[in-house]
Amino acid sequence: MMPRIAALAALMLFAGQAAASPVAAETVGVRAKGGQPEYLFLEKVPRAEAEATARKLANAVIAGRMIIFAYSKKLTDPTLGDKGFGGEFFEKQWRSALEGEMLDATPNQKRIFEKLFWAGRQVIDNNQDRLNVKGIAWKHFLPAKWEREMGQVFTARTGIIIKQPGRNYRSPVNVPDDMERSMLQHFIAAKQDENKPQTAFTVMGKQPVFRHMEPIRLMQPCLSCHGKPKGEPDMLGFEKDGLEAGDVIGLMSVTIAVSE
Ligand code: HEC
Repeated sequence: MMPRIAALAALMLFAGQAAASPVAAETVGVRAKGGQPEYLFLEKVPRAEAEATARKLANAVIAGRMIIFAYSKKLTDPTLGDKGFGGEFFEKQWRSALEGEMLDATPNQKRIFEKLFWAGRQVIDNNQDRLNVKGIAWKHFLPAKWEREMGQVFTARTGIIIKQPGRNYRSPVNVPDDMERSMLQHFIAAKQDENKPQTAFTVMGKQPVFRHMEPIRLMQPCLSCHGKPKGEPDMLGFEKDGLEAGDVIGLMSVTIAVSE
């Protein structure tokens, strides 16, 4: 016990000295400026294909979220062990939901989509132990968690960034960057039926990119966590967002490198 108290006393002394120091404290734990974490953009699309590719990817991810959402009752049933919701099962449904999307896909887009399917399946397989726990309803597996993990796996393999910046993000991975923050503000200020994707050619670090952002809106079943009353804890302990069905909760954000 003694050494811990001594350490605490030393810490308090140190804190006292720091506060008294005339030199302005360095702000630590903030994002480094310029550049961005995924600096090797492995997949690049021609400028003319960028918009369609980003839109197709956004549609695909939304379709994947909807499949998980459709199974949420089964996935949160505490009486079930094995839910039969494996990667292969998921991928099959995901592919069939996207048949229309694939009809006019270019060879380049088809190759990127194979990597997307692979990433989505990996994440479902990786969550089997969690999903198949018996006796617990909410196992922290949600469309948003699948998308976060899938996006990270997909980005690591391709350099194409898929993320879902949040209005009040729960996972720190979903922190919006400057453009995402202003797009969130745009959609929040706009009418409830304003869903037209906002897009831009810009630069990320040294890389020319195309960015696509569209709103993710809440539905009735989302409100048990993202709804009212604001500030009251949801079933996972997060404070509810105080929003209504139709309100913007986050963005579907796709950033894809363009080859010049
Ligand atoms: C059981 C509570 C719960 C429900 C119901 C729920 N969410 Fe969430 N939501 C969360 C949690 C927890 C996270 C963080 C997930 C993660 O990344 O691990 C999250 C994250 C998100 C994010 C990413 C931004 C952020 O906050 O990190 C979006 C977008 C989102 N949810 C939308 C929805 C939508 C749309 C629905 C309904 C289809 C929904 N959520 C239903 C708890 C919930």
